[in-house]
Amino acid sequence: MTTLTVGLGERSYPIHLVDALPAATVAAEAERVRGRQGRALIVTDSNVGPLYAADLRQALESVGLQVVLVELPAGEASKSLDTISAVLDRALGAGLGRRDLVVALGGGVVGDIAGFAAAILHRGVPLLQVPTSLLAQIDSAVGGKTGVNHAAGKNLIGAFWQPRAVVASLAVLATLPERERRCGLAEGIKHGFIADPALVDEVLANAPALAALEAAPTRSLVAASCRIKAEVVAADEREGGRRAILNFGHTLGHAYEKLLGYGALTHGEAIALGMIQAARVSEAVGVAPAGLEAIVRAPLEAVGLPVDTEASGLPDVPALLAAARSDKKADGSTVMFVTLAAVGRPLIRTLAWDHIGEALRQRSGLQK
Ligand SMILES: NC(=O)c1ccc[n+]([C@@H]2O[C@H](COP(=O)([O-])OP(=O)(O)OC[C@H]3O[C@@H](n4cnc5c(N)ncnc54)[C@H](O)[C@@H]3O)[C@@H](O)[C@H]2O)c1
Ligand SMILES: [Zn+2]
Repeated sequence: MTTLTVGLGERSYPIHLVDALPAATVAAEAERVRGRQGRALIVTDSNVGPLYAADLRQALESVGLQVVLVELPAGEASKSLDTISAVLDRALGAGLGRRDLVVALGGGVVGDIAGFAAAILHRGVPLLQVPTSLLAQIDSAVGGKTGVNHAAGKNLIGAFWQPRAVVASLAVLATLPERERRCGLAEGIKHGFIADPALVDEVLANAPALAALEAAPTRSLVAASCRIKAEVVAADEREGGRRAILNFGHTLGHAYEKLLGYGALTHGEAIALGMIQAARVSEAVGVAPAGLEAIVRAPLEAVGLPVDTEASGLPDVPALLAAARSDKKADGSTVMFVTLAAVGRPLIRTLAWDHIGEALRQRSGLQK
């Protein structure tokens, strides 16, 4: 087991990376946080629950906790206030008290829902994150952002609520569907781009093994990613500044997702294309020397993520920009855009949308 720490003063917490199934480590953390008494609410989904919830329940019961299990329908559609209401009903109906635990067992969807429920139940109860998708292990389980979607947009309702511990198990990734694996890889490579050139080299050197989620390179990617995310979050928990570098590739990635998501493109695939475009913008506005785009493209392509922004079915530059500008966080004539001066050197710039559009149109014209 490897343990990292998210340094947030008295709210600091460990991230345990384990090769085995997570149950025993989660039970040890539950005992540390709650003692050998009380209740634990496991929140999971209809894919993950049948595979791993029984084992976790047994381990929590073995340290003296009474366990309540809520299994939500898998998928983004569960990230709603209705689900939160149902989870709270179950928790309060079962008598969960202020010191009792919420345990999130699942991907980012479960983590965001369970985290938000934990944040508002009794004005905040202890939370353990047990991420089971690569994306959740690399990204969403660390950092304390929780929340649900609204008809007006994604993640518009939520709270910062840090877990008391994160337990990321390599063993559970064995059952993760192929396409979901690549989602996590995109975010892991993003961490390399914003903070760690050696990580990018490592991805390039081990791409086929990583794409197959072999143990050694996957362990190393998850560990490096958690270390980077922990460091960024410790420096800027509430995204006053530096934390925004985690959005590299996301301004235009979200636009791809909005236009083609929910089927055609996963979040990770959309972000891969968004990172290519962000590299182009970095070059075009003079932040990066020519050649950055090729450097960004290489590891994404090597693990099988889409990198061809001119592929048929993808939006052209005007459509992409229109979608990006309609984002609530990006209205107005300028946007805070995460550029890269080089791998490991992110720079947040205020850029005019017109300038971004011009840069992308030029590049798209060059490729035709
Ligand atoms: N809070 C944050 O900081 C943050 C960061 C990034 C993303 N997110 C959110 O995370 C969500 C995406 O997360 P995700 O990609 O994990 O999606 P997800 O939770 O929907 O999981 C993807 C799919 O894999 C299944 N699954 C998960 N683990 C499995 C396993 N071990 N075996 C078999 N199947 C498994 C799930 O049931 C689901 O069908 C989005 O809602 C996004 O907004 C949050
Ligand atoms: Zn993302």
